[in-house]
Amino acid sequence: MEQNNRVTFGSKLGVILATVGCAVGLGNIWRFPYMVGSNGGAAFLLIYFLCILLLGLPVMLTEFYIGRHTQCNTAGAFKQIAPGTRWHLIGYNGVLASLFILGFYSVVAGWTLQYIFEAIGGGLDGKTAEDFKLGFEAFSTEIWLPIFWTLIFIALTHIVIISGVKGGIERTSKFMMPLLFVILIALCIRSVTLPGAMEGLIFLFKPDFSRIDSSVVLSAMGQAFFSLSIGMGCLITYASYFQKDTKLQRTALEVTLLDALVAILAGIMIFPAVFSFNIAPTAGPELVFITLPNVFQQLPWGNVWSAVFFILLAVAALTSTISLHEVPTAYVHEEYNIPRWKAALIVSFGVAVLAIISSLSFGVLKNMTIGGLIFFDFLDYLTAKIMLPLGGMLICIFVARRVDRKVLKAELTNQGTIPFHFFNTYVFFMRFVAPIAIGIIFLNELGVLQWIVRLFS
Ligand code: TRP
Repeated sequence: MEQNNRVTFGSKLGVILATVGCAVGLGNIWRFPYMVGSNGGAAFLLIYFLCILLLGLPVMLTEFYIGRHTQCNTAGAFKQIAPGTRWHLIGYNGVLASLFILGFYSVVAGWTLQYIFEAIGGGLDGKTAEDFKLGFEAFSTEIWLPIFWTLIFIALTHIVIISGVKGGIERTSKFMMPLLFVILIALCIRSVTLPGAMEGLIFLFKPDFSRIDSSVVLSAMGQAFFSLSIGMGCLITYASYFQKDTKLQRTALEVTLLDALVAILAGIMIFPAVFSFNIAPTAGPELVFITLPNVFQQLPWGNVWSAVFFILLAVAALTSTISLHEVPTAYVHEEYNIPRWKAALIVSFGVAVLAIISSLSFGVLKNMTIGGLIFFDFLDYLTAKIMLPLGGMLICIFVARRVDRKVLKAELTNQGTIPFHFFNTYVFFMRFVAPIAIGIIFLNELGVLQWIVRLFS
């Protein structure tokens, strides 16, 4: 494999924006509110923050280490550090997880395109909260229209991927991410000034500890991994494009904080409106799609706001789907020596098949369930709650066991040129806290812990 001429991101700002672009997406604006809503509000939020700080940051930094150190795709990186072992199976977990995530993510991304289209055509005018709800249900259970938009979205992702790292990923992130931020803040202001907004803020910020159970904790951990794009080597792949003088610690901190900030802003934008318009916070995946149009209706030029917002949401989704697509594409391209365009085509085709089944699982295939979940929810559950935390745990164990502390420190401090004051704390979290905590959360959800407690009581 030729490593020397590997492309890198063009500038420092490009690195931050592309990585933030990868992390910030539907996970923050679509998935986060619906997870908060269906897991009881503020108590979930609290555990989510704990997961981000205690598990997210150490895993992210560890992925950055692996990626920049090896300058390799996810599976290749493990082979390079531990040749002749089975550790590269972690990489395969990541390659599969990205296909599965794209399999449901592209469907939601497709929905955003439909909403852009409707907003531009003036479709929001004069509708009530009930109309938006029924409208969404009618649309999402249809056969052709959602599939059409989903395939368009996969095609868009495909085009960016084949136009390459610098031209595609970096350029798109550079001006869209800041714009998204500004729009979010404006919508937050509108939402908190709606009548009855306070109730939404209380739901979001005042924890009711009786709501915490094993499934809330698992969901919060899953959301933290999903939102930060960690646990499957996406950030290994991105960090492999970092320059040698990129500051890894700082980048990890900035990406994590910005990602959490966008999620909170999305919460502040959604929940006051949910309560103000009497929408059930537990609505599930459609929560954002039925709440937001109501907020836009409250604004002068509602259609313009909603068109702009959904365009930005689609772009935020695109900067994430390209990061997901890049993982299997880089893998197929580098490990099998297949030209990049061909590798991308194979991946897009696989994703399209999964996405069509997910889309249909809201309508005609809704009786085809796996473990009681429709196909869409199954892919979501399998990746966010199992594959990503498991991958994160294994990544930490891998580096703890196979990498010399000095080598680790040298990479994370750019060969000693920048300080790392909390290096020992980081190592402690990466070696012990993160893997053990993830393990406990898994055992807890499986009921093993309750069983042990009962055995000894
Ligand atoms: N984090 C992105 C979001 O919040 C989704 C995403 C992109 C992702 N790359 C990932 C999730 C890798 C898990 C792993 O929308």
